[in-house]
Amino acid sequence: MKTGRPTPTVERLQRAVQHVQGEIRWGEPLSRILSLQVGGPADVLVVPSDVEDVIRVIQGARSEQIPFVVLGGTNVVVRDKGIRGIVMQLKQLTRIQEEDNQVVYAQAGVRLPRLMQFASGRNLSGMEWAAGIPGTVGGGVVMNAGTRLGEMKDVLSAVDFVNLRGQRVRLNAKDLSFTYRKTMLPKGIVVGAWVQLTLSTGEEVEAKTKTYLQYRRATQPLTLPNAGSVFKNPPGDSAGRLIEAAGLKGARVGDAEVSTKHANFIVNRGTATAAQVLSLIRKVRQTVARKFGVRLQLEWKIIGET
Ligand code: EPU
Repeated sequence: MKTGRPTPTVERLQRAVQHVQGEIRWGEPLSRILSLQVGGPADVLVVPSDVEDVIRVIQGARSEQIPFVVLGGTNVVVRDKGIRGIVMQLKQLTRIQEEDNQVVYAQAGVRLPRLMQFASGRNLSGMEWAAGIPGTVGGGVVMNAGTRLGEMKDVLSAVDFVNLRGQRVRLNAKDLSFTYRKTMLPKGIVVGAWVQLTLSTGEEVEAKTKTYLQYRRATQPLTLPNAGSVFKNPPGDSAGRLIEAAGLKGARVGDAEVSTKHANFIVNRGTATAAQVLSLIRKVRQTVARKFGVRLQLEWKIIGET
C-alpha cells in the first residue's frame, strides 16, 4: 500500500501492538497466508484473539499513526516488497450461531463453506452459492462475493463493524449499497455478519451444493495455488471465454500460469513471484484488448510496495 507516510519505526510498531493479546509475527512472509502463495513480508502480522483485540489494534494503530490492512487470504495479490505497517488476519474470529427467524450470525474469520454447511445442517437455504468458495465471511461481505447461484447481498441482513475510532456498530444491509463484487462500506473492519436464510429441506440444500461443487471441480484448477477469478466478467460476456479465445490458456511468466483448465484463473506452478503474476496479468489484458477491444477489470485487489 502506498500511504505517502514514512515507513513506521520499529518502536512505533511495537507500541501500536503492545496491548494485543493474540498472535504477533514480525516480518512474516505473506506468501504463507495467501492462497496464491506469493507476496512479500508484513512489518508485523497480527492475529487478534477476539473483537476486543481487533479494537486494540485499531486504537494502537491510530495513536501511533500506523497504517493497517486486513487480509482474508483470497482474491488479493501482495507485491514482492510486502506491506508496511500492520497486517491483520481475522482467522481467530470463528464464532457462528443460529439466532431467531432463520438468521445466522458468523464472525468475519468463518470460512464461507463452513457457514454454508452450518446452514444446511439446520435446513436453512440461501448460502448454497458459497459452496467451495475459499474466502471468509469478512472478505465475502467486503467484496460482495458471489457466483452464478447468488451473492452476499442476497442474504446479508446486517454487518458487525468496527469503525476507525474503535467503536463497534451494526450496519443494516438496507442502508448499504452493493455493486458487482463490491460493498460500499465506511472505513473500518468487518468483524461479523448476520445473514437472513429461509427454511428448506436438508436434502434440497445438499443436492444444490453437490451439483455446484461438482461443476467447480470439473471447471476450475482447485488443486493448484490460486486466488479465485482474476478478472470481473465484462457485461454480457465472460472473462474466461475471452482469455481462452485470445489463445492465452497455458501462457506463462516464470511460474505464474494462465490455467489450462479455466482461463480466468492464474495458478502458481511452484515458486511464482508477485512480479511474475502482475506481468502475466498485463499480458492478458493487453492481448484481450488488442484482439477483442475489451478492457478487462481486475476482480483481485493488488496491494503492497513495489
Ligand atoms: N469459459 C471458457 N473458457 C474458460 C473458462 C470459461 O470459454 O477457460 C466459458 C464457460 O464455458 C462458460 C463461461 O465462460 O460459458 C463462464 O464460465 P464459468 O461457468 O466457469 O463461470 P465464470 O463466470 O468464469 C463465475 C465466478 C466464479 C464462480 C463460477 C461458477 C466471476 C468472475 N467468477 O466464474 O467465482 O465459481 O462463476 O459459479 O463471476 C471467484 O469469484 O473467485 C470465483 C471463482
